[in-house]
Amino acid sequence: MSELQQTLVLIKPDAVKRNLIGEVIRRCEAKGYEVVELKKLAASRALLEEHYAEHHGKVFFEPLVEFMLSGDVVAIRLEGHGVIEGFRSLAGSTNPTSAAPGTIRGDLGREWGTKVVQNLVHGSDSAESSSRELALWF
Ligand code: RTP
Ligand code: MG
Repeated sequence: MSELQQTLVLIKPDAVKRNLIGEVIRRCEAKGYEVVELKKLAASRALLEEHYAEHHGKVFFEPLVEFMLSGDVVAIRLEGHGVIEGFRSLAGSTNPTSAAPGTIRGDLGREWGTKVVQNLVHGSDSAESSSRELALWF
């Protein structure tokens, strides 16, 4: 049985601009997860570089940071048993073109020809990542 967990969900600038904040939260709540804490903010470069530290040095790092700086994001502390894996499952795979229908990225996202793929949401990928990321954002 999965333990009670918290994960960091980010609603990225593409989703905020397309008025999909409510749709993303609706899917989290419909699944049964609880929004414990939530805020909308313009993230700083320093925060984003720390958040995506694992990707430092990759070709898409700078375009990724620029994209995340392009508008407001919504940060959510989401809670539930197995929520780390569960939200990743709700989000779908990284590339929205191939993300499965039924997922956030598969239903609501696509490629737009941008330097870095825009895929609407972020979810922590492990217990270690969620602890680290929640401490950064909240
Ligand atoms: P995220 O961290 O944003 O939730 O996305 P993710 O776990 O599905 O993907 P991750 O591997 O952590 O990559 C972070 C973001 O970098 C861009 N990316 N581009 N060109 C590429 O091969 C590539 N790989 C990753 C995506 O925007 C991805 O969301
Ligand atoms: Mg990731």
